[in-house]
Amino acid sequence: MSALVIEGSQWGDEGKGKITDYFSQEADVVVRSQGGNNAGHTITINNEKFALRSIPSGIFNPKIKNILANGMVINPKQLLEELHGLEARGIKDYKLYISNRAHIVLPYHEMLDSAYEAYKGSHKIGTTKRGVGPCYSDKINRIGIRVGNFIDEDDFRKCLVEALKIKNEELKMLGLEQMNVDDIFNEYKEYAKEIKKYVCDTSLLIEEELEKGSKVLFEGAQGAMLCLDHGTYPYVTSSSPTGSAVPINCGVSPKSINSILGICKAYTTRVGEGPFPTEIEGDLAHYIRERGHEYGTVTKRPRRIGWLDCVALNYARRVSGIDYLAITLLDVLTGLDEINICYAYKVDGKIINYMPATLKELKKVKPVYMKLAGWSDDISNAKSFEELPSNTKTYIKAIEELTKAKVAIISVGADRCQTIKVKEIF
Ligand code: GDP
Ligand code: IMO
Ligand code: MG
Repeated sequence: MSALVIEGSQWGDEGKGKITDYFSQEADVVVRSQGGNNAGHTITINNEKFALRSIPSGIFNPKIKNILANGMVINPKQLLEELHGLEARGIKDYKLYISNRAHIVLPYHEMLDSAYEAYKGSHKIGTTKRGVGPCYSDKINRIGIRVGNFIDEDDFRKCLVEALKIKNEELKMLGLEQMNVDDIFNEYKEYAKEIKKYVCDTSLLIEEELEKGSKVLFEGAQGAMLCLDHGTYPYVTSSSPTGSAVPINCGVSPKSINSILGICKAYTTRVGEGPFPTEIEGDLAHYIRERGHEYGTVTKRPRRIGWLDCVALNYARRVSGIDYLAITLLDVLTGLDEINICYAYKVDGKIINYMPATLKELKKVKPVYMKLAGWSDDISNAKSFEELPSNTKTYIKAIEELTKAKVAIISVGADRCQTIKVKEIF
């Protein structure tokens, strides 16, 4: 039995899509655990680039069962556009399953996402405005519409009438136009008809597969530092991207998971507002941003750039149960004379090794760096750890020492083939 969790261990965009696709060559099942179309997972196969939003990264392998789990929020209109887009590019032979317990993102969620951001003004979160937060709020508030309700026309209409009673009050309060049941119902019932064939109890399906001995990958969206509970609240997403949340998000026993792989960029990026202790600006940030094409897949915003933060990473390892790390975008650092790694924070003159919980404390954090020599040799064609320049190896070993996690994968380029397996974990 093999069940591997692939989790973002920073603030998202660590290369989860690339690494999931890499392991998908050997997997039977890929389960997307949480989030929605706020995610953008880029996959490059033989120089052809795909950006997935809600669809699991196993979709390119016709034998894989791709599952959208109960922890997700699904925008049916966007999901169908994404599917049709893939089909138009020749990806026609796929297996897709959607949890009847996942929640549906509707137009009022997107409107409210933008409206709350505008209302917050300078305190805005910098969300992707895809309605993900408002949809999860409705789930918690028990006025959400689940996929199981959505695909039953009568049920969908009843749920929509009830939800809009409250949602229209909210829209009114924010000075927005109210929404009409029939307008949404008539458009969305058609999407429901189209997705119905994919809907099932995915918890049961995953259990069956695990019992059969299938190889299952759980693909997270976002990253641990964007976790609603453990991230830099309130500058977070509205779900838990941690490996420890996978059992809840997918309806499986915690005992069925064998290993958790934290995907970690060789530096750090963040999109949107919020604390970022190791952030750098100026020419150095520009160099890394351009080499790493660090612009949002979903919103095209330039990503903020920083050095690798091992205080945050160590925290992510601890709260998520990360066993191994995949270090991605290592090639991007080629050409730098010196590379910094943050191993502690200084707050009011005191050295700390933990992640402060409040924004007030986080604002005072000054990173404490270890300085390592860079490398100039091109590493993008390296096929083994041994082949890497000695300064690159020193960098990887420093990450292992500071995070107490073993590096199992090293990624030296966007393409599937630019991946070095250091340890067999799946
Ligand atoms: P995800 O959201 O975690 O799947 O990550 P994104 O796809 O949003 O962002 C990662 C970006 O880095 C994508 O454009 C990938 O194609 C690219 N990428 C992934 N691994 C590597 C790597 O090792 N080197 C380089 N240069 N690019 C990579
Ligand atoms: P992947 O899966 C990076 C960020 C947004 C914002 C915050 C809340 O590609 O790594 P939301 O729309 O979720 O309410 O926004 O979370 N965010 C991401 N940042 N990668 C992502 O996904 C993200 N999904 C959300 O920028 O700061
Ligand atoms: Mg992304």
